[in-house]
Amino acid sequence: MHVVTHATASRAASAAAALVLQRLSQHPSLVLGLPTGETPVPMYRALVRAYRAGRADFSRATTFNLDELFGMGKGDEGSYRSYMEAHLFDHVNISSRRAHVPDGRSADWRHEVARYDRQIERAGGLDMIVLGLGRNGHIGFNEPAAQLQAHTHRVALQPGTRRANARLFGGRWRAVPAHGLSMGMGAILGARRVILLVTGAAKARMVERALAGPITTHVPASLLQAHPDVIVILDRAAASLVAKRRL
Ligand code: F6R
Repeated sequence: MHVVTHATASRAASAAAALVLQRLSQHPSLVLGLPTGETPVPMYRALVRAYRAGRADFSRATTFNLDELFGMGKGDEGSYRSYMEAHLFDHVNISSRRAHVPDGRSADWRHEVARYDRQIERAGGLDMIVLGLGRNGHIGFNEPAAQLQAHTHRVALQPGTRRANARLFGGRWRAVPAHGLSMGMGAILGARRVILLVTGAAKARMVERALAGPITTHVPASLLQAHPDVIVILDRAAASLVAKRRL
């Protein structure tokens, strides 16, 4: 793992955006995995700025989001699809046919999760994926558990994960769906390059466990230690407990 620390969260996010832009310019038909959440908001802002300045072309790119809330989809306020439209899709020249988010409103979620994996496979897998880190160590909605799923799947969200999403539902965590659809560990670990972007002191302990603790399904992000090409981008607050460790 290659760990880079920046002074502030916004610099860390800009660094993540720079890596995406660099790969996109080398490889315009990039297949990119993307997260939602608070952490990547400034990264998306940087990507939109680059597009507006003529420094990015998404016309041939394909994106696959990591997850969606169950029962939510296009047009639903609070859905991850709406988040992506607000922060990226509506502001850059990505084709709507190639901007994929699992459809949490599908009448048949079993069909939907299989379809999502097939689409990733047909695209040739992910060239790059940007991940955030849940306070409980989750990536996507792969929650800590005795076993993790390889494929896209339906998952019960832990109360802390629902609380972390309460901002999308007027602060009411019980209004957050109790389930989500998530890309599995197979597609995530199969990505040719992984960028893990984590900011804020509240994540410092989990950063330490994920990067320097044992590899365990109880800290899903710890599985990234086994991936050959991971760049971890932290701000100083998130890096405070790993700063002096040799990783
Ligand atoms: C969301 C996702 C999650 C988040 C994680 C951190 O698509 O993949 O794993 O990355 O929950 O969320 P924030 O950035 O809000 O702390």
